[in-house]
Amino acid sequence: MTKKILLLPGDGIGPEIMKEAVKVIDTLKQSFGFSCEVEHALIGGEAIDQKQDPLPKETLDLASSADSILMGAVGGPKWDNLLPDKRPEKGLLRIRKAFDLFANLRPALLYPQLAQASTLKYEVVSNLNMMIVRELTGGIYFGEPRGINLKDGEHAAFNTMIYHEHEITRITKVACEIANKRQKRICSVDKANVLEVSQLWRQTTEDYVKTNYPEISLSHMYVDNAAMQLVRNPKQFDVIVTGNLFGDILSDCAAMLTGSIGMLPSASLNDKQFGLYEPVHGSAPDIAGFNKANPLALLLSLSMMLRYSLESHELADLLDKAIDDVLTEGYRTKDIATLQENAVSCSTMGDAVQAALQKLS
Ligand code: IPM
Ligand code: MG
Repeated sequence: MTKKILLLPGDGIGPEIMKEAVKVIDTLKQSFGFSCEVEHALIGGEAIDQKQDPLPKETLDLASSADSILMGAVGGPKWDNLLPDKRPEKGLLRIRKAFDLFANLRPALLYPQLAQASTLKYEVVSNLNMMIVRELTGGIYFGEPRGINLKDGEHAAFNTMIYHEHEITRITKVACEIANKRQKRICSVDKANVLEVSQLWRQTTEDYVKTNYPEISLSHMYVDNAAMQLVRNPKQFDVIVTGNLFGDILSDCAAMLTGSIGMLPSASLNDKQFGLYEPVHGSAPDIAGFNKANPLALLLSLSMMLRYSLESHELADLLDKAIDDVLTEGYRTKDIATLQENAVSCSTMGDAVQAALQKLS
């Protein structure tokens, strides 16, 4: 059956990396019989500029009729002075909420070819393969009340960190299903020594796993310690499950272990496996437009889409293999090149993946 994929290039390096994803989708269609239709829509700053809304209705409508969404990145200095509600990032937060994309999967995997690109010692990161499962539609990102007040001549700002039991159990269930296909170990990260919301998180994950997944070994860690353990000994982790804010921070940290944040894909799924796929990195305005960005995190996100939402496991395996092959051949964008290596452009990296894919046909 023909699949509909909605492409949201977004801001900064978004459009240039998306061009490389389109090349790869074309190759999947032409050489591997992948049947799909592709549409484009606006999100983020570009949508603010053209439609005065970071998530225009046209985009939401196209997303509703699509089988899956692939996004580049949102945000940039041009829109930095807008209020939180009007900013490019709000478009992304609203689309996550609109489709109830509560489960954010962020795998951190070190390609042996890139061990030299990591800032950590080889023995600390070699063979690293962990998965961060981040709750994405709750917590302090969405909690009410929130705002900025003027009282007694000064401003005070506030947000609310709130989790309901059902939000904690459903993300824990996703983590358990993933852990069951891996080493069956989950570390739940919270701040239960300070926050009530984390006490509920800890108790709920504990009860849920014991009752429903007794085969899984669950441990708990405070978020400050988890940040430290990620750089001290990241291989102790198999699956991490955590809330929205902690997951945001820890996943950037985990990304860097793999050499570059330019290598980390992500999937944001609802309970029907409908998903939005996007790189963990942002819009990188400093290098936007220079054809320097690393398109691999987006291409790996495309691979996750094939695997998790479109049930095309074979195509996902082939794309993963093509990416592995170009790294073995020595292609490096600037972010993953060591001082001794020549960096290639974003489009050259995309061409190389396309060629490697074609070789596999
Ligand atoms: C991410 C990003 C987003 C987030 C921003 C762009 C709203 O940092 O996906 O990690 O905070 O969730
Ligand atoms: Mg982030």
